[in-house]
Amino acid sequence: MNDTVKPIDFNVENIRQDFPILQREVNGKPLVYLDNAATSQTPKQVIDVIVDYYSNYNANIHRGVHTLSQEATDLYEQARIKIQNHFNIEKSYEVILTSGTTHGINLVASGFASLLKKGDEIIVSALEHHSNIVPWQMLCERTGATLRVVPMDVNGQLLLEDYDQLLSEKTKLVFVNHISNALGTINPIKLMIEKAHAVGAAVLVDGAQSCPHLKPDLQALDVDFYVTSAHKICGPTGVGMLYGKEAWLTKLPPYQGGGEMIDQVSFEKTTYAGLPHKFEAGTPNICGGIAFGAALDYMNIVGFDAIATYEHSLLEYATKALSQIEGLKIYGPKDLEAKTSVVSFNIEGIHPYDIGTILDKMGIAVRTGHHCAQPIMDFFKIPGTVRASFAFYNTMEEIDALVSGVKKAKMMLS
Ligand code: ALA
Repeated sequence: MNDTVKPIDFNVENIRQDFPILQREVNGKPLVYLDNAATSQTPKQVIDVIVDYYSNYNANIHRGVHTLSQEATDLYEQARIKIQNHFNIEKSYEVILTSGTTHGINLVASGFASLLKKGDEIIVSALEHHSNIVPWQMLCERTGATLRVVPMDVNGQLLLEDYDQLLSEKTKLVFVNHISNALGTINPIKLMIEKAHAVGAAVLVDGAQSCPHLKPDLQALDVDFYVTSAHKICGPTGVGMLYGKEAWLTKLPPYQGGGEMIDQVSFEKTTYAGLPHKFEAGTPNICGGIAFGAALDYMNIVGFDAIATYEHSLLEYATKALSQIEGLKIYGPKDLEAKTSVVSFNIEGIHPYDIGTILDKMGIAVRTGHHCAQPIMDFFKIPGTVRASFAFYNTMEEIDALVSGVKKAKMMLS
């Protein structure tokens, strides 16, 4: 679906009516939710699908001849097709439903344990989330492969000349996020994929932070693996997707053993199911998968072109206003075209937690700390940042509230 859905005219006040949580108060103040990079909020269209599922269809899938099981299976498999179409994936069985981005990454890392040997190299970027560092370190410990890191510059942008130097016939895998969760940097993944393929390496892209802002065309990118989470895209937590090219998914062994991932089981030998079921052991998050499809429908109705344009105006407005606060430093690309709607900042001499705590008293939700990206904080020699991350349902007035809250926090803490 999705390409057939006509986007609505963008009207933020109408859109906000879709999100019940945006009507609530926190600490006696209207909620100003600016922690969208951690998790997005859920529109009533998706909440309704969840309620409808448990009210009318709740059953286990792929297992029963009874009507409820068949209906639930149909809805779940329809969601897989929605995901396939949204990401322009060639075959629906190249979509593996997971519990989220971290699950997808660990599935691939675990599978490569049987394909790597001592002397092989894995490249990650300096901009990675811990979920895209730790599984590869564990994989290197198991296989004797070596982890190499593409460094970044002071603007939080990867140094592609260094990437060129790191790539060699020893490189078997490259892992890079599409967009940095900590700084909002958009990485040049198409170019990085082409360069990796030129030396015969496979590429996994972490799309957790890109999918809320843009619509990736996975065939055009020619990426080998792509992972994301539904909860970043107005869906529920605990569900996500791993895309893998058929040839790779066929080559990788199963990740977990259990029901659904088998063809035949005996005590002597088990044979495995084909794709995608080989990687979907156990009862999945059925309602979550169906709601993931509904969330993609919703996002497509709003329209990704409109989302990108509007979020960019929020980013420009916030960057300009926050930059005028004396002592405030923003981390990440100076060129706003090279980032998404994330502003990660500190005020000289003040701990980010203290700013975040005072903002919360004003009803303003931001994330503070290292954002699961400690190497980035180490690079800048800081304990963490205050991160305001905007979604298409945020308003300029909410940014005004943030700026005024930060000014008040600065006065109280200086
Ligand atoms: N990775 C999520 C974040 O950046 C949780 O906040």
